[in-house]
Amino acid sequence: MYAGTATATASVATAAVLGAGMLLMSNPGAPLPDAPATLRTVQQAGPVRHATDAMARGPRVYAHRGASAYAPENTLVAVDRADALGFDWVENDVQLTRDGVPVVMHDTGLKRTTNAEEVFPDRAPWAVKDFTAAEISRLDAGSWFGARYAGTRVPTLRQFLRRLGHNRQNLLLEIKSPGTYPGIERVTLKVLNEEGWLDRAHVRDRLVIQSFGAGSVRTVHALRPDVVTGFLGAPAVAKLPAYAEFTDQINPPSAGLSGGYVAAVHALKGPHGKKLQVSPWTVNDAASARKVDGMGVDGIITNAPDVVRAATKG
Ligand code: G3P
Ligand code: CA
Repeated sequence: MYAGTATATASVATAAVLGAGMLLMSNPGAPLPDAPATLRTVQQAGPVRHATDAMARGPRVYAHRGASAYAPENTLVAVDRADALGFDWVENDVQLTRDGVPVVMHDTGLKRTTNAEEVFPDRAPWAVKDFTAAEISRLDAGSWFGARYAGTRVPTLRQFLRRLGHNRQNLLLEIKSPGTYPGIERVTLKVLNEEGWLDRAHVRDRLVIQSFGAGSVRTVHALRPDVVTGFLGAPAVAKLPAYAEFTDQINPPSAGLSGGYVAAVHALKGPHGKKLQVSPWTVNDAASARKVDGMGVDGIITNAPDVVRAATKG
């Protein structure tokens, strides 16, 4: 299905990507330096604590927004739940507050997953970008999911990274709605750097940065060419070589994915000279997991990592 979708949207997106990339490459800014050794205290080099990825024969399983079938999404509780279930890889969504702090939140509005309406009744439409980090830190991001999670907070990216480091987990970081947040790529990389997530060990094995915004992915690649990147979407096959210049992964919606499309992606090499990878989302039941596994995907992004692992580990 995907293999033949040479849509106008994809063509426009590709043109925009190439244009943005040329601009960036002409002035990518100073490279971000490695973090000082003193900042690398939480995450140290070495193998991840869990052995699940290495032991299981099956695609890498990403706990989507944490183990979000079982705990409030994009919170430290959801990270810990993924850890308790034995999962190394966690996906999240990063946006910027009004004062430029990266926070972990999926929606561009605060209404669905916090009590922002109650705490700030006069601040409609409760957009993340209109609130400071201090204001967001006052919100309850757990009660919507269940009373037992009352008091759970919206984590900053920095807090999120520290919890992952403590748990020895890895991160599939999504830059959400990049058009809303000019400069979010540089700010995100700065925090990653300060927290030790851009050292050699993390860059090699423990971090992927992805976005629906192809220009955003290209910006990350231009700023830090060593970082593994992913594009969220399913570009037409004819357009894939252009994407392979700046992204290591093509991560499409699972609906409509075909083995032919996966093979077309796999036929290409990414900017680091390795086979382009495919990790579809969001696959939450065993039958769907088996189906995409049968297509040869490299990873599966899921709210229920235990279900996917059980269905795919061979
Ligand atoms: O990681 C893939 C997936 O998160 C993309 O969709 O809307 O859940 O961020 P969304
Ligand atoms: Ca996401």
